[in-house]
Amino acid sequence: MEKLNQDALKKIDAIVEKHHSEPGPTIVMLHDVQNQLGYIPFEAMEKIAASVGSSVAEVYGVVMFYAGFTTQPKGKHVVNICLGTACYVKGSQKIIDAVTELIKTPINGTSEDGMFSLDATRCLGACGLAPVCVIDGKVHGNTNPGQVTELIKKIIEEEKASPRA
Ligand code: FES
Repeated sequence: MEKLNQDALKKIDAIVEKHHSEPGPTIVMLHDVQNQLGYIPFEAMEKIAASVGSSVAEVYGVVMFYAGFTTQPKGKHVVNICLGTACYVKGSQKIIDAVTELIKTPINGTSEDGMFSLDATRCLGACGLAPVCVIDGKVHGNTNPGQVTELIKKIIEEEKASPRA
């Protein structure tokens, strides 16, 4: 397991300190860690467990329960493609296949250069827009493989032109 840097550890400490005495602090702390670091490292689960007086296993159980939490660092750009029934019927598997081919990233994985993460998700609650994909938090509906790959190619071009931090 890779060691977390001091900056990340300080952020985790600040989050634990901030929410320590609030009701239901575990979930609030986990949300903050996810938002600030982009994932929930093991060290954060240890610190949160110690702070709220539960076991690391219990905190880990909460992390596993909620689809919005992840224990793996994500790429700079995150592509979520819905594989719920409505989206699947309307061709989301073909979109996933095209994206996988384009960014050379396995489903629920991150590209080697850390640029993209590709996640297949369950129903996003927008079935009327099927097939749905979410790129960097922006929802795209009634999509198709060509449209989604064009959006991703645009990001690749922008990154080449002026790499975003
Ligand atoms: S099945 Fe994709 S949004 Fe509901």
